[in-house]
Amino acid sequence: MTHPNAQEIIEKAKDVLVRTYEPQPVVLDHGEGCYAYDTDGKKYLDFAAGIAVASLGHANPAILRTLKKQAARLMACQASYATQEKLEAAQLLVDNTCFDMIYFSNSGTESVEATLKCARKWAYDTKGPHCNEIIAFRNSFHGRTYGSASVTEKRMSQPFFGPYIEGVHFATFNDLSSVKALVSDKTAAIIVEPVQGEGGLTPADPAFLKGLRKLCDEKNICLIFDEVQTGFGRLGTFNSYEAFKVEPDLAAWAKGMGGGFPVGAMAAKRKFGSAIVVGTHGTTYGGNPLACAVAATVVKQILKRGFLSNVRKVSGVLFDGLKQIQRESNKITEIRGMGLMIGVDTNTNCGDLLKALQKNGLMATKAGQNTLRLTPPLILKEEQAHEALGIIGKTLKEMD
Ligand SMILES: Cc1ncc(COP(=O)(O)O)c(C=O)c1O
Repeated sequence: MTHPNAQEIIEKAKDVLVRTYEPQPVVLDHGEGCYAYDTDGKKYLDFAAGIAVASLGHANPAILRTLKKQAARLMACQASYATQEKLEAAQLLVDNTCFDMIYFSNSGTESVEATLKCARKWAYDTKGPHCNEIIAFRNSFHGRTYGSASVTEKRMSQPFFGPYIEGVHFATFNDLSSVKALVSDKTAAIIVEPVQGEGGLTPADPAFLKGLRKLCDEKNICLIFDEVQTGFGRLGTFNSYEAFKVEPDLAAWAKGMGGGFPVGAMAAKRKFGSAIVVGTHGTTYGGNPLACAVAATVVKQILKRGFLSNVRKVSGVLFDGLKQIQRESNKITEIRGMGLMIGVDTNTNCGDLLKALQKNGLMATKAGQNTLRLTPPLILKEEQAHEALGIIGKTLKEMD
């Protein structure tokens, strides 16, 4: 078979793939570390990383070793079986977080579903069937299956998928009084992203999260953090709740957890996690030995000495450099985010900016209405941060 060129792949894909995303003008072929290469051999500094997924970079040797070894040993078994790999991953996660119990899934949306079901089951058992409402936030994003889509504000503009699950109310992010106004004896849970990702890289005010914690304690409500984008080192702490010094009752994880391999989890404090009992929830693939072996490898890499301090260091380099570019050009209007989850608002069209950056060798993504999102691998080196800043500065200048 002759190798089709990029244009052929793009055209054929339009025909056979359901159109969930805008087609990209390049076809990625392979990656190494913080760089990705297209089928024409062009090299890109990858500041998308699968949207905060390839946290250890592409073709990470430790992940490759684990995949090879575990794939040859045992890839799948009935989810009801405990395996050494599942136990090791769960134990590592429990030992290094505030949580007591882990439920493995395969994606962010499944992890969110698990937290919603767990919180509702806990509320049903302890407070009664009437207690089934969830408070979520405007500009939130929690996924695309029905539960997670129901707590995602975008449902407002997608009536064609209705009816969504009932009893979801949307408060204003970073506005505690708007949450208090929605709380009633029907409130089972509050779900929040510590840094709103898809909504535009907006960090929570630490006082807001502390206020949510206090409110949930006072009213006996389950507090859920959606850490799908913020977790696993992305903010320079292992989990983002550490950066905010507020512990949730449940957390949803995915993305960086597998460094590119699909794996997610719900993490739970025992009081809440024990609400899920045999026959109430489960998954065929979740917790499979291959995914768990990879997750354990990723966790061990993140916890290695110097890993998280590198995230904080290169984050500082990027924020400082972006501020410098902002001073020098009239293009950047706001810089937001934390760690290696950075949003840059510009007065140019983000779609045009992304294309121009891509042309100049930097891959990134868009979030919110018009925000440039930078989520590079967490192994980014200082010189690569400077390389990215050089490309961003040059590109914005070219767009003058
Ligand atoms: C905060 C958050 N939650 C949930 C999801 C859904 O994850 P997935 O696409 O793996 O289902 C995402 C994906 O972008 C996310 O950013």
